Amino acid sequence: MTVGRVAELAGVTVRTLHHYDRIGLVRPSVRTAGGYRAYTAGDVERLREVLAYRRLGFGLRDISDLVDDPATDAVAHLHRLRGLLVDQRDRAAAMVTAIDRELEARAMGIRTTPEQQLTALGAQLYDAIGSAYPATRRTEPRIAARIWDALGDARTVLNVGAGTGSYEPPDRGVTAVEPSAVMRALRPADAAPCVAATAESLPFEDRSFDAAMAVSTVHHWPDPVAGLREMRRVARRVVVLTYDADDTGWRQRFWLTRDYLPEFADLLVGWPSLADLTRAIGGRAESVLIPWDCADGFFEAYWRRPEAYLDEHVRRAVSVWTRVGPKAEQRAVRRLRDDLSSGRWAERNRELVTLDAAELGLRLLVA
Ligand SMILES: C[S@@+](CC[C@H](N)C(=O)[O-])C[C@H]1O[C@@H](n2cnc3c(N)ncnc32)[C@H](O)[C@@H]1O
Repeated sequence: MTVGRVAELAGVTVRTLHHYDRIGLVRPSVRTAGGYRAYTAGDVERLREVLAYRRLGFGLRDISDLVDDPATDAVAHLHRLRGLLVDQRDRAAAMVTAIDRELEARAMGIRTTPEQQLTALGAQLYDAIGSAYPATRRTEPRIAARIWDALGDARTVLNVGAGTGSYEPPDRGVTAVEPSAVMRALRPADAAPCVAATAESLPFEDRSFDAAMAVSTVHHWPDPVAGLREMRRVARRVVVLTYDADDTGWRQRFWLTRDYLPEFADLLVGWPSLADLTRAIGGRAESVLIPWDCADGFFEAYWRRPEAYLDEHVRRAVSVWTRVGPKAEQRAVRRLRDDLSSGRWAERNRELVTLDAAELGLRLLVA
């Protein structure tokens, strides 16, 4: 195919194609009988990948790394592009819904507060990633045992930021609170009743519950300290599974954040210290080790099963990957894939195979 014909079909200018040719990104590798330069089927395939990554917002230098990666064939590129586009579509749809809601509210003369706008964003993230959640997120029995033990003799339990209800104790009266409509819809039919509300403003009287629990959710709340105080207000006992964000030690120890996704550190900027969180409920923090075969696919769960992070389903069920953005995600995955196939990962992390559980900053706060 000639340069002119390719430009016409792809909807780009001939100038763009010449530019790609000059920088070595996509070259028309043959000549026609008339002596004009032309694209082979392989050249066109490469151009299609380049244009698709471009439309997703990748820079030309990153695109060149992506399309030159010998470990990624055309089918793998299609799978990756599809995943990125679906993700972008879902996020755009969730934003349209949030904007429609705010327009409706404004039309009725209701102004949303800054807090409500931020809260909508937090829930909106889960409206976008929620549908991927059940694939890998489920109860890890050893962590559940720790949480249920900490609930003591509580008979009524409020589960805040409940999601699909993974850690709700089966033998007590549970009430769930979950702001994301998608997550609420994903709760099993026989799950505990669920109220649409946020942690920062719990619609319950003081001391309404024996205990309040929150699992892997506090880091999503716009105001974690306010949410924890609310839990304290409505319950006698508070149990929270969260992360120690100020201890950089485990971030350095965890090979995924240390060697592949340093952007994770940016997500923790401004996050309250463990001491602030513990103080908000007036309790203590206990370390929770992550078993090597952890059943709940949260971010650190696969620390001894690195291949899992190459799986799109595993990543889509963890908000970290959506929050760092597609560029950082693809770069991290590409480097990990390379290091796994070259043996570099195994070389660097030799000591992990002998561990059955790892200390990676997970904490149980109990008050
Ligand atoms: C990682 S999920 C955890 C769900 C569940 N606790 C579990 O362990 O599977 C985090 C949840 O927090 C919810 N969330 C986000 N902002 C919130 C807020 N301000 N108050 C309460 N929950 C919130 C999200 O919608 C999402 O369902």
